[in-house]
Amino acid sequence: MYATRMFTRGFASSAVSRGAKVAVVGAGGGIGQPLSLLLKLNPAVERLALYDIVGTPGVAADLSHINTKAVVTGHKGQEQIGEALKDSNIIVIPAGVPRKPGMTRQDLFNTNAGIVRDIAEATVKYAPKAHVLIISNPVNSTVPIFAEVLKRNGVFDPKRVFGVTTLDVVRASTFVGQVKNSDPTKINVHVVGGHSGVTILPLLSQTGIKFTQEEIEALTKRIQFGGDEVVKAKDGAGSATLSMAQAGARFTNSLLRALGGEKGIVEPTFVYSDVARKDGVEWFSTNVELSTDGVGKIHPLGSLSDYEQTLYKAAVPELIKNIEAGVSFVAKN
Ligand code: NAI
Repeated sequence: MYATRMFTRGFASSAVSRGAKVAVVGAGGGIGQPLSLLLKLNPAVERLALYDIVGTPGVAADLSHINTKAVVTGHKGQEQIGEALKDSNIIVIPAGVPRKPGMTRQDLFNTNAGIVRDIAEATVKYAPKAHVLIISNPVNSTVPIFAEVLKRNGVFDPKRVFGVTTLDVVRASTFVGQVKNSDPTKINVHVVGGHSGVTILPLLSQTGIKFTQEEIEALTKRIQFGGDEVVKAKDGAGSATLSMAQAGARFTNSLLRALGGEKGIVEPTFVYSDVARKDGVEWFSTNVELSTDGVGKIHPLGSLSDYEQTLYKAAVPELIKNIEAGVSFVAKN
């Protein structure tokens, strides 16, 4: 399941000889801990740096007893972030507050925008060449925030900044599998757009599976708002953590494989993209072929049914608003 290929291309020479370093920022949290566990089990990871403002020494000590080759280090507090990020090939960011029942992801903006901006500033300083995987919500805004900070420091490379939307794809496969009584691991749904409510567009017409219109509408709604099911069930204790950790580990592993030279690895992800630019949207998720540089070929939307075109039209203004909120936050802060 995991990449074992040696890193021969795409990294600075020190990284080639020492293998991949992955840093997790927010490693003490609900997502951070199981994500770090899954990364510790990945043989492509040789160094795993765990950073948080609390708790990381304990998580690192615990994980370090697992007999896999990744060397785990724990870093706590602002003064140790440099050491955590330095020389990282990939920085995965699940830092920030999660939702409580009744909240939208955009409600998290006020708290998480500043957290993500500060992590971006640290990335500029300590690891400007790292590939950055942003999990912190609202992804539609935190990704542009991160990019704007890189831009104002002259180190933005659109091939290296990713919003992690893998959980939407994971959920889509699961929910379609349940409806069709088939193996979810064999079901691939192209989920495009953004990562919140109506901006999540599952293109069920591209699956090759036959659905009734009723099934399409119910599945679309469930994929768009699937996160709410977990928020509600956790009843104030947060949002998806375990499924997100799996999705985050899957995306990190896909990128590690691509950075190591493996071809044909495709994951949907929220990137700086031309796909919806004609409609004024600069960041958009579609299938992306990952490469030794990070973002390789960005796949187009493909053909949309009439119903999906309506969904697309509803998503565009919301995405523009979310992206603009991120851009103007950085301009003012
Ligand atoms: P959590 O509250 O359990 O953990 C967050 C961690 O971030 C805490 O350990 C906290 O100390 C840390 N943190 C806060 N400020 C920090 C800073 N400045 N630097 C480093 N670490 C910092 O939250 P959870 O459940 O792990 O969720 C994290 C984020 O991921 C939330 O914003 C949530 O909405 C988002 N999320 C994203 C998903 C996606 O599909 N992209 C899915 C599920 C959650």
